[in-house]
Amino acid sequence: MNNELRVIINKLIKNHSLTVDEYEKLISLRCEEAAEILKAEAVNLRKKIYGNKVFIRGLIEVGNICKNDCYYCGIRKSNKSCERYRLTGDEILACCENGYQLGFRTFVLQGGEDAYFSDDFLSDIIKSVKKRYPDCAVTLSLGERSRESYERLFNAGADRYLLRHETADEEHYRKLHPEILSLKNRIACLENLKEIGYQVGCGFMVGSPCQTAKNIAKDLKFIEEFKPDMCGIGPFIPHKDTPFRDEKSGTVELTCYLLSVIRIIHPNILLPSTTALGTVEDGGREKGILASANVVMPNLSPVMVRSKYLLYNNKLNTGAESAEKLQQLKKIISDIGYEVVCDRGDVIK
Ligand code: 5AD
Repeated sequence: MNNELRVIINKLIKNHSLTVDEYEKLISLRCEEAAEILKAEAVNLRKKIYGNKVFIRGLIEVGNICKNDCYYCGIRKSNKSCERYRLTGDEILACCENGYQLGFRTFVLQGGEDAYFSDDFLSDIIKSVKKRYPDCAVTLSLGERSRESYERLFNAGADRYLLRHETADEEHYRKLHPEILSLKNRIACLENLKEIGYQVGCGFMVGSPCQTAKNIAKDLKFIEEFKPDMCGIGPFIPHKDTPFRDEKSGTVELTCYLLSVIRIIHPNILLPSTTALGTVEDGGREKGILASANVVMPNLSPVMVRSKYLLYNNKLNTGAESAEKLQQLKKIISDIGYEVVCDRGDVIK
């Protein structure tokens, strides 16, 4: 292995921190041996804190109507081929009931940015879920909202919020989003969520168009400094009805490498092995867990709408990706030496 890389890896393991330049080299100089060393360290840290537990979250895709037009996303506003839907409050509650019976103790309500999901509407649902299932956590993933809105939803009982920062580099952010969206506002939202008291998740796509090693280095520095409780990373996968239709997908290899690096930066973090990772390659999700991810998010959405929530081509929504096939998922995970557990799975501080 390159000696400079060896020195950087040792420093990361010792200090859980690097400069942006060092993170950049960690990425650009990477080799198989480096990946193995980082993976071993990451898995060891995860084991000390979370044992061999893998937490599950029931993902409910509440709607695919979105006011935004992000160039990478299959449910962007301009995609006229996307068949739009919204779940009603009763449908969302029915998903939770189904999930509770299956053993889920976290429900993630995810959807596009859609005014239909008003504070009143969401507060009612959150309160109902918390009243019916006091032993469950509610996670929201509904994009950018005002501080007041985040406060109201938190006061209604929401515990966690996922809002990927997408890229921590201004210039790269501009290449992925239309003018009206800004990295500054994203970060302000993340800061607000944290101050309000949510457990907060940020994250980014690996291998998104125009992404450089320097961009990823900035993502890692941002994650190091922001100290999120959760971090969602998955490979970019093109969607046929977006401007990025002809771009290449991100790789399992780099995603797993970064999962290990993020685990070393923040040993206690909750890291999902994402659906996108399972979609780009058969067995990708297992590789994510073996690289120190400790969360999986099976799909609890009504089966009828699953084929409509397509952020990218060929998104998995059957098999071990679906909540009904929890037994299958448990077996896959136990076959690689881990155990799916049915509790809230809060971050250990
Ligand atoms: N490929 C991979 N991930 C995507 N996302 C959106 N579009 C894509 C795509 N084409 C991710 C974004 C978003 C999350 C919900 O899904 O990072 O934050």
